[in-house]
Formats: sequence, C-alpha cells, structure tokens
Amino acid sequence: MRTSNIPFLLSSLVAFSFAVAGTGLAGSMDDLFERSHHELEDHQKEYVYGVPVVPTVQWTMSSGGRMYDNWMNATDGDAPEETHPSWPATNTKKSGSVTWRCKSCHGWDYKGVAGKYQSGSYYTGIRGITHMQGSDPSAMIGVLRNEAHQYTEEMISDDQARRIGMFVTRGLHDTDAHIDRETGDTTGSAARGANFFQNICAACHGFQGTQLDWGDDSGPAYIGTESNANPWEVLHKIRNGHPGVEMISSRPFGMETAVDILTYVRTLPEK
Ligand code: HEC
Ligand code: HEC
Repeated sequence: MRTSNIPFLLSSLVAFSFAVAGTGLAGSMDDLFERSHHELEDHQKEYVYGVPVVPTVQWTMSSGGRMYDNWMNATDGDAPEETHPSWPATNTKKSGSVTWRCKSCHGWDYKGVAGKYQSGSYYTGIRGITHMQGSDPSAMIGVLRNEAHQYTEEMISDDQARRIGMFVTRGLHDTDAHIDRETGDTTGSAARGANFFQNICAACHGFQGTQLDWGDDSGPAYIGTESNANPWEVLHKIRNGHPGVEMISSRPFGMETAVDILTYVRTLPEK
C-alpha cells in the first residue's frame, strides 16, 4: 500500500461508517473488501505486483482476473475519487472508487444486467462481457481507453490491459454451470474440496477458514461467511486469487477443483 492511498482509505472508512450509521444496514462484502488492510512483507511484493520473466498463460489470466476484481489493489495504483462516468446517476447506492472496478458494472458472473446485477445495489443496466470469448486479447487496450471506460495509461498500462484481455477472452467460467442462480448452491464435491483446502488454503486461512477475518464490529467475515453470502465472488477469487495480497490462484488445478473447493468452504463456520 503506497502512502498516497492512506487518505483514500481513511475517507472510505469514514464514508462507510456514515453509511452504516445513516441506513442501519451492514455493509456488503464488497464494502468490507474496500476497507481491508494487509501489510505485505518485502519478499511478498514480487508475487503480488511483479510479472514473471516468462509468464505462463494461466498466470496471465489470473493476473487479469485480479485486475478485473480490483485493479487499484492489484496494481497498487491510486483510486479515482470521482464516480466513473458510465456509472448511472440513478444508482446512488454506490459512488467513487468502487464504481471503477470492472466487476461493479460487469459482475462476478461476467453477465452484467443479465446476471446477479439485474437488481440490487450494483444495478447499472450494463451488459456482460461473455460475448468476448475467443476474441483478440490486445483489443482490450482499445476497449479500456474508449468513451465508455476512460481508463488512462496511468491507471491501467497497455501491458496490464492485455493481461485483462487474456482473462476476458480466454479465462472466464460459466457460473451457471456450477452455482444455482437462485439458491447459490454449488455442484462440486465437498470431500474432494476439503483435500485441497486443508493442504493449501489452510496455510493462510486455518483449517476452519477463521484465521483471516476481514469483518468489522457488525460481525466476522471468514471464508465460510463470504462463500455463503456470495459464492460467485468467492469462485472468482479461488480461480484468480485476491488482489493486493499474497493469496494463491487455483487456476493450475482446473475448474472442477475450484468448484470442489468452493463447495467445501461453504460448510466452514460463518460466525
Ligand atoms: C462504470 C461501468 C463500467 C466499468 C467500471 C467497466 N465497464 Fe466495461 N463496459 C461498460 C459499458 C457501458 C460498456 C458498453 C456496453 C454496451 O456495449 O452496451 C462496456 C463494455 C465492455 C466490454 C465489451 C466491449 C465490446 O467491444 O463489446 C468489455 C470487454 C468490457 N466492458 C470490459 C471491462 C473491463 C475489463 C473493465 C475494468 C477494467 C470494465 N469493463 C469496467 C461499463 C463499464
Ligand atoms: C498465501 C496465503 C493464502 C493462501 C494460500 C490462500 N489465501 Fe485466501 N486470502 C489471503 C489473504 C491475505 C486474504 C485477504 C484477507 C483480508 O482481506 O484480510 C485472502 C482473502 C481471501 C478471500 C476473500 C477476501 C475478501 O475480502 O473478499 C477468500 C474468499 C479466500 N481468501 C479464499 C481462499 C481459498 C479458498 C484458498 C485456497 C484455494 C485461499 N484463500 C488460499 C491469503 C491466502
């Protein structure tokens, strides 16, 4: 975290507390996410912000996926203060930097208005990105600099845009194939997922998934909490990693494993 981000973090903390006090509603997981702090050790910074000498296709897609989630945290970049120009004025539930995250308009299911964001606090009416499947990843540079997006090179470089392009054109999954749209139930094998979780995820999250907590006074936020509240988001993070921290990407283990892990973590403690 660069020191230049501290005023932003403080102001979003104040805005968040105000919003909670003003509405009596607890913040969504996305709001909680906005506030999470995590100090990286020097030796972790290369993994989190660096690029391998010869990047593999799967690394490139995961890196793009983390920027899709939150490019500001993934790149240690500065968060714009003003609301994104394509964010509809009719949606006053969200404003400022969160409206610049790709997922805020296009969704954790990549389906935009045709998916989970057909209603709720992230409703924008904007369509998804699944139609980009198989197209040229480099075209993402033009897409991100266009009138609808207005990302400058200082925000997202051409190289970073190409990585996002690899994610968008090669690296998406069909959430409907694995997660029930209405109930959030998942299709995987919890027993097989436990095997991966205990051997890999537990190194940082603990066997119960409760060693890392990004919650607040209103309650804890563990893997169990979040995977039940928003399995679409957690599947994205299991596949790509969590931006700005040393969390691993499970992409090399394949899609089936990611869904099995998701199915298992939904059985872990929520409180
Ligand atoms: C504030 C809302 C907003 C944000 C944030 C946003 N987009 Fe978009 N995006 C749009 C709009 C509006 C369109 C045009 C939709 C249409 O064609 O109807 C669009 C279209 C797209 C398309 C389709 C382009 C095409 O040629 O069909 C892609 C791909 C895309 N966005 C990727 C991204 C990525 C990657 C990010 C993050 C770096 C992002 N968007 C962030 C609003 C947004
Ligand atoms: C090397 C350490 C590490 C490993 C391994 C790891 N994580 Fe994480 N993970 C983190 C850190 C650090 C965070 C950020 C926590 C915070 O914001 O306080 C995180 C965040 C998360 C989040 C959500 C955070 C949010 O705010 O939305 C989920 C969900 C998650 N991890 C699931 C997993 C799963 C499932 C695995 C195994 C496939 C895993 N993690 C493996 C370190 C790790």
